[in-house]
Amino acid sequence: MKKILVAGSTGYLGRYVVQELKHRGYWIRALVRNTDRIKLPGAHLEPAIAPLVDEFFVGDATRPATIADVCNGVDVVFSSLGMTRPDFKHSAFDVDYHANLNLLRFAMKAGVKKFVYVSVFQAHKMMEIQNIQAHEKFVDELRASGIDYAVIRPTGYFSDMAQFLNMARNGVMLSLGDGDKRSNPIHGADLARVCVDAIEGTNNVVEVGGPETFTYREVADLAAEVVGKKPFMASLPIWVADGVAALTGFINHDIQDIALFASAVSKMDSVAPPHGSHTLRDYLVEMAKQEGH
Ligand SMILES: NC(=O)c1ccc[n+]([C@@H]2O[C@H](COP(=O)([O-])OP(=O)(O)OC[C@H]3O[C@@H](n4cnc5c(N)ncnc54)[C@H](OP(=O)(O)O)[C@@H]3O)[C@@H](O)[C@H]2O)c1
Repeated sequence: MKKILVAGSTGYLGRYVVQELKHRGYWIRALVRNTDRIKLPGAHLEPAIAPLVDEFFVGDATRPATIADVCNGVDVVFSSLGMTRPDFKHSAFDVDYHANLNLLRFAMKAGVKKFVYVSVFQAHKMMEIQNIQAHEKFVDELRASGIDYAVIRPTGYFSDMAQFLNMARNGVMLSLGDGDKRSNPIHGADLARVCVDAIEGTNNVVEVGGPETFTYREVADLAAEVVGKKPFMASLPIWVADGVAALTGFINHDIQDIALFASAVSKMDSVAPPHGSHTLRDYLVEMAKQEGH
């Protein structure tokens, strides 16, 4: 039986990857910072991992001394470890780059055979964003390391689409620009299958999106329909958004990254090869039910 370490196991994607690995018969070690997070499902319907994991390892990957043994005895490391919201303590480089690099170094020392890492679709078109730079700097290290590897490049996750429900409920749906750019977001369970296929396969780069493609406006309309409201549609010109993003840089780089990312995806289509079967409508309906609407 193959042994695997999952880093990022308490996150949206990591929880589904743990579930998929369990389903395929792997022995799983999960790196966690806080064991309180393992017993409960995640906020976006992702599963609790406590019953699925064989061994928990408590450590903080930004502090190498706490994870020195985390890769011992495993065949593969999967990492969706990342900073997806500002924590005002770490930078994107501390987490997306350095923490993953710490893991890679310990993986190589422990003789791990393969390292699978989750970056971002079309990263090369968004290199002005620090978070993307940090992801890609780690990808460069991984490529140069000599270890067998795969880099997963997904579009947006369904978990991010839940914010449309909040906007619809609050009565104002904000879009940047015309809201006409297209994307195919993906459910965590569908993406997890692709990740585990990559663990078992030979492709070094896997670009992946969900089965349906929407414009931003279409997602907004869908969310409004699901909550049964007719929100006011407000459109902010992209040049204003870019100005706001530039100003937020004086406050906090992680907040600026979020603004720059929102602006970048409003300017370009983001449609990756389609995978999976989960529909966005079903997901939004489930999320709305969970939130009591
Ligand atoms: N969301 C999207 O639409 C999207 C699209 C493309 C790519 N991505 C990338 O995919 C990856 C996973 O995304 P996600 O939405 O699953 O993220 P997430 O829900 O925020 O999960 C991040 C995971 O990393 C862990 N982590 C963070 N810092 C750590 C540290 N110092 N030591 C140990 N663990 C640490 C978190 O642990 P805690 O639970 O303790 O915080 C959590 O398990 C990210 O790199 C993200 O940039 C996301």
